[in-house]
Amino acid sequence: MEDKKAKIIAAAVIAALIAGIVVARLSLKLSEAFYVIAGAGTAAIIAVFAILLLRHGFDRRRRLMETQMVSEGRELRIEYSFLRKVAGVPTKFRERELEEATDGFTCLVGKGSSACVFKGILSDGTAVAVKRIEGEERGEREFRSEVAAIASVQHVNLVRLLGYCSVPAGKRFLVYEFIPNGSLDKWIFPPRREPQPQPQGKTDARGGCLAWDLRWRVAIDVARALSYLHHDCRSRILHLDVKPENILLDGGYRALVSDFGLSKLMGRDESRIVTTIRGTKGYLAPEWLLGNGVSEKSDIYSYGMVLFELIGGRRNVSVIDDINDKSKRKFQYFPKIVREKLREGKLMEVVDSRLLEGGGVDEREVRRLVHVALWCVQEKTRLRPTMAQVVEMLEGRVPVDEPPDTQMIIIDLLSIDKEEEEQNPSRDRQRLAATRVNSDVASSSTYSYSMSVLSGR
Ligand SMILES: Nc1ncnc2c1ncn2[C@@H]1O[C@H](COP(=O)(O)OP(=O)(O)OP(=O)(O)O)[C@@H](O)[C@H]1O
Ligand SMILES: [Mg+2]
Repeated sequence: MEDKKAKIIAAAVIAALIAGIVVARLSLKLSEAFYVIAGAGTAAIIAVFAILLLRHGFDRRRRLMETQMVSEGRELRIEYSFLRKVAGVPTKFRERELEEATDGFTCLVGKGSSACVFKGILSDGTAVAVKRIEGEERGEREFRSEVAAIASVQHVNLVRLLGYCSVPAGKRFLVYEFIPNGSLDKWIFPPRREPQPQPQGKTDARGGCLAWDLRWRVAIDVARALSYLHHDCRSRILHLDVKPENILLDGGYRALVSDFGLSKLMGRDESRIVTTIRGTKGYLAPEWLLGNGVSEKSDIYSYGMVLFELIGGRRNVSVIDDINDKSKRKFQYFPKIVREKLREGKLMEVVDSRLLEGGGVDEREVRRLVHVALWCVQEKTRLRPTMAQVVEMLEGRVPVDEPPDTQMIIIDLLSIDKEEEEQNPSRDRQRLAATRVNSDVASSSTYSYSMSVLSGR
């Protein structure tokens, strides 16, 4: 625009100069004064042309440099975003982008104690799970832990954090790769009831009965992910909320550990850390109750608990209502049943009955998994194996010894009637069946919590 204006001015000046020369020629004839005016006019016209040429050359050079800089900048940006992707550096999203991607947060794929998770599609076509963290103080804490723990780690069995969004008003979002088959609980526990439509909109609930070979592979995948977190990261990462709801299954039913909201970073030279109680009832290691601090062995305990549930297709702690007297509710502790069945040599009785109907359950694998699970839930932390050892045991690189007996102190805490069970061992199976019916009221909460030891909340 400026260029055009300059050209118009130059043309007007030249036209005026020529007109001046013509007028001088007509009025002054070929006098000396005319020659002076004509000379000065011609010089001025040449000067205007020279200025125009110089300006043109200067503009061309400037435009060339500008396009060079723009293309270099674009290349740099492409390279930078490529490197971010390769390095797995999470992107900062705007709330509007996430709203558009999730169609206004309509497709709910999961709900935990602190967050709702929605399915979404980013503008480049990537399917994502957007976790909207609720709650003020706790939400902020969980958001920070989750970003700090997962942003710097990469492993095939850990869910990938693609980005985040933190709005000053308090809304916080984490953007994960979308894992199509959802969480493990839906694939090992019998469904409670038909999925209910959520008030917020449509749901994307999947589930079924996971085959034995896939359960076996899930056990190894999770062990590998935890082993990586405990042994192979620069600062040791404790997950502290290992449970089926936090294990996701991809399209090929490979397991990915997710939900780092309660995780803690632990220095390589530290042997344990003291922190507020965090985790989920039913998966908490006994050392939490002692308040002496926790270590990676607490994750190993929770992992052992998940193994029992994987084998049995039922919650470890379940409530049985007395048919005759509704006020008489009793707890049943599945790991204890497994230990007894192992002693009696009837191990296959603890396997998820839906799997036994179809066949294909390898008894040697069941035995190995039960042994590993019993090692992992030892009350004494030093007796529990490390996650690296668990991987070796499951992969068959080292033999799995007969596990020592455990007190299973939770039995006392839940006041499970030992005497009665000893007198009526035959009732075990009836109870097992009853538990399936009652799995709805499983006492182990499916929600995580983190609270102050002192507050006793
Ligand atoms: N990346 C994902 N892809 C698909 N589904 C997911 C994904 N992340 C989470 N979900 C679903 O959402 C549920 C809740 O997510 P998440 O465990 O992260 O929330 P939370 O509030 O931290 O849970 P918790 O109660 O364990 O604290 C999961 O159990 C799972 O079913
Ligand atoms: Mg969770």
